[in-house]
Amino acid sequence: MLDYWRQPGWRASWGGPFNGQVFRQQLFVELCSRVPFVAVVETGTYRGTTTMYFRRTTRVPVHSFESKPRHYGFARAHLWRARGVYLYREDSRAGLARLAAVEALPSGPVFFYFDAHGQADLPLSEEVDLAFAHWPQAVIMIDDFAVPDDPGYAFDDYGPGKALTLAYLGRRAAPPVAVWFPACTSSTETGERRGCVVLARDAALVPLIDRMRTLRRWPAPGE
Ligand SMILES: C[S@@+](CC[C@H](N)C(=O)[O-])C[C@H]1O[C@@H](n2cnc3c(N)ncnc32)[C@H](O)[C@@H]1O
Repeated sequence: MLDYWRQPGWRASWGGPFNGQVFRQQLFVELCSRVPFVAVVETGTYRGTTTMYFRRTTRVPVHSFESKPRHYGFARAHLWRARGVYLYREDSRAGLARLAAVEALPSGPVFFYFDAHGQADLPLSEEVDLAFAHWPQAVIMIDDFAVPDDPGYAFDDYGPGKALTLAYLGRRAAPPVAVWFPACTSSTETGERRGCVVLARDAALVPLIDRMRTLRRWPAPGE
């Protein structure tokens, strides 16, 4: 927590919310205008920059998981006055399972932002499975994901079978029904220019997202 006071420059990590990417922020605002989310769940709080943005933008409860004590402490200090923000010092997989077990989220569409990567132990596949298993109206955004036709978007690769690509998602037992990518080229995006993907399964939500200006539909793995 001391880092928060000693290092004020760390308060806007990764250049701001969503890695400082203005188009991604617009995408999120449009998504919220189409889908009546009842809660937001983030994995990988880090310093709480995007967590705070979620709270300011949506006004719905925001749950965020961080496994590293030092990052958790910083985020706690950053968000100590933010009502409706629930921070957990917990592995994302255990945390999602616990949220489901205690029925912590209201029923309805939930926005999941999966950003708990940065090391060889990649929780992403299990995070996607847990979200769709317990919250059928989940809409998932994965950060640091390869945009297949735009190599200017950066993505994470942790070695064989652990690159954040459509092939990684396709290897799962139940691939998502619908997949979207940003409707903006990397050259017109700002900030860190990290790629992302959006996933959904619910038949009522898919047409709402299809109408978005900031997303474009992509054939799902196996489609
Ligand atoms: C890229 S940073 C997240 C950035 C943050 N979402 C933002 O937008 O500012 C990734 C964070 O995920 C955390 N992390 C990695 N694996 C995790 C796991 N299994 N569960 C929870 N947090 C994890 C790391 O400690 C790190 O703080």
